[in-house]
Amino acid sequence: MRTPIIAGNWKLNKTPHEAIELVTELKREVSDVEGVDIVVCPVAVALTDVNDVVRDSNIELGAQNLFWEDAGAFTGEMSGPIIKAAGCKYVIIGHSERRQYFGETNETVNKRIRAALNSGLIPIVCVGESLEEREGDQTFDVVRDHVTGALSGFTADEVAAMVIAYEPVWAIGTGKTATPDQAQEVHQYIRGLLKELYNEEVSGAVRLQYGGSVKPDNIEELIAQPDIDGALVGGASLKSDSFAGIVKGAISKVTG
Ligand code: PGA
Repeated sequence: MRTPIIAGNWKLNKTPHEAIELVTELKREVSDVEGVDIVVCPVAVALTDVNDVVRDSNIELGAQNLFWEDAGAFTGEMSGPIIKAAGCKYVIIGHSERRQYFGETNETVNKRIRAALNSGLIPIVCVGESLEEREGDQTFDVVRDHVTGALSGFTADEVAAMVIAYEPVWAIGTGKTATPDQAQEVHQYIRGLLKELYNEEVSGAVRLQYGGSVKPDNIEELIAQPDIDGALVGGASLKSDSFAGIVKGAISKVTG
């Protein structure tokens, strides 16, 4: 049984002070939730403050990116050891916004994943097609390219512990959610691909999140799909009640 995982990607939102307020409310609202991994990913300068609030709670911390070198003359970057020391367990890698605005490629995604593993961080690896690619019937090709490029060179054991987030770019921040069938179809494809690239054990172990306009009122039908193990949530993670609603909706995966 894969433990459901709901992660909030706060993107470039919330000052440290606002982040503390948000996570303090969230902590209260999800305090009795069990059986679901809950992760928040604030901006880098809020990590240590948020960590102070979530320490000894059921909320875990993630970063939104990392650089592949540990330290040195790389002005403006954050590294695995620093993120780890700030309290992170997870790190989002290869989000489509990074691919779109910051020149992220499969190759740099691959290097960042290696850096994350070297620092003992669990990568949340993002993959997904654009609207143009979906309309051009290229969804599976793009997802295959993202997954194989990102995972190139990793062992079966390394991959088994990763989280992969399928986020169709056309559904991010647009209010257009993929239908549960559309999402399941791609999740199933990714799981099949993991079996092809590695083995059945890896394919059965990797947790697959759906991302793109997830809200409290669509999480249950999404997570009911056999290959959807959680969600990567942007907009709806910026309010404690909507994020808590999504977390609680995910309990249905555990209780049936
Ligand atoms: P959204 O973003 O929930 O606002 O669509 C999801 C994401 O980009 O991770």
